[in-house]
Amino acid sequence: MLKTQTTEQISGHGMWSSKLAFILAATGAAVGLGNIWRFPYVTAENGGGAFVLIYLGCIALVGIPLLMTEILLGRAGRHSPINSLLQLARRSNASRTWSGVGVIGALVGVLVLSFYFVVAGWTLAYVWTYAVELVGSHAFQDTPQAHFDALLASPARLLFWSSLFLAVSVGVVAMGVEKGLEGSVRLLMPLLFGLLLIMVGYGMASGHFLQSVVYLFEPDFSAINGNVILQAVGQAFFSLSLGMTGIMAYGAYVPRDMHIGKTAAIIALADTSVAILAGLAIFPIVFAFGLESTGGQGLIFVTLPHAFAAMEFGNLYALAFFTLLAVAAWTSAISLLEPATAYLVERTSFNRPVSVLIIGGSTWLLGIGSVLSFNYWSEFLLWGKNFQELIEYVSTNIMLPAGGLLIAVFAGWIVSRVIVREQLADMNDDLYRVWRVLIRFVVPIAVLLVFLVAAGLI
Ligand code: PFF
Repeated sequence: MLKTQTTEQISGHGMWSSKLAFILAATGAAVGLGNIWRFPYVTAENGGGAFVLIYLGCIALVGIPLLMTEILLGRAGRHSPINSLLQLARRSNASRTWSGVGVIGALVGVLVLSFYFVVAGWTLAYVWTYAVELVGSHAFQDTPQAHFDALLASPARLLFWSSLFLAVSVGVVAMGVEKGLEGSVRLLMPLLFGLLLIMVGYGMASGHFLQSVVYLFEPDFSAINGNVILQAVGQAFFSLSLGMTGIMAYGAYVPRDMHIGKTAAIIALADTSVAILAGLAIFPIVFAFGLESTGGQGLIFVTLPHAFAAMEFGNLYALAFFTLLAVAAWTSAISLLEPATAYLVERTSFNRPVSVLIIGGSTWLLGIGSVLSFNYWSEFLLWGKNFQELIEYVSTNIMLPAGGLLIAVFAGWIVSRVIVREQLADMNDDLYRVWRVLIRFVVPIAVLLVFLVAAGLI
């Protein structure tokens, strides 16, 4: 999908072969475990409707403008995020320290990936279980809850499946920027979408669909507090892959004639639809089977198997579902590896494969902490959270929004207006002004306010 030699050659990188190629890659980066695994469980933990409403508000007011901003900064800089930021700061006569935003972004990518690949390993373990079920051997232990608990209790199984997942992700990045990724997104994402629709159809027939719609969309304002708002903002950043410069890294390879505003809207729409569909698929099952919705990170791994077990050809659906979820997670994991890898390629004498091996190796080492959090270390708590939960909470709810805030300030206040306007040249003046107000005022103030409210300072 990327031509390595183009007229607009950029140091050590290629270019997306078309606008569609970029949209597919960025949608692939956005749609992943965040939509299908994280959105339903965080929604349940934060009381449903009110959380979803704030989440949707964040996508529109913070997510889309920032998505545009990351793409435009990447395209204006045409390097790895760190060096793009450095160059843009230079061209705008600003301090070079702004490139630090890229350094933090690359590190946050590694931090997020260090637990993301472990959860992705659960998905692969389920693919295996259902494949074995399908050939007639019994692989599913007792109840879905017991099956999930048994998986978490085994560091060896967790490590095996998650390492396999990470190895494939590292392999793809090593081979050059996402060759073959376009095909998988173009083909497999619509399939995942279709399967989710089938699950939503199953939910509709379960008799608990309406209850789920009310649960997801009727805001109970008494449930809102600082932490719920922080979680909704964090989830919006996580889902759209914002604040860690992954989209900026992809933006560096974007063709000149691509309309950034429209593209950002398409990506956000696709991403949000998948999250909402996942919610509409999961909650009817939760209510129909009388399951615990606030069970935390195991939510989809415990609820969906109940439905699959009750469905005709359930094992086949399950196998397809978890396989497609693993593919969606792969296309996201690649974007988490990209900023740090691109930087090493540019800055050191290491080539791409060696660079991504270094980054992947560090991620793997950190991931061992997450693997152990589900068993041997489950009792070691800091602020009531185990190691994995702490990394997930800090990286998602604090570091991603903080990164987004800095990116917004940089684009809105620091980078020369000429550079920015040139990137958004195809946007009419009114829309451009709206974007500018959002990025200069709304995004930074909103994120700051949320931090202050969540810290109990307001
Ligand atoms: N957006 C992806 C998902 O929702 O699964 C993964 C992801 C990418 C999460 C980048 C966080 C992030 F910073």
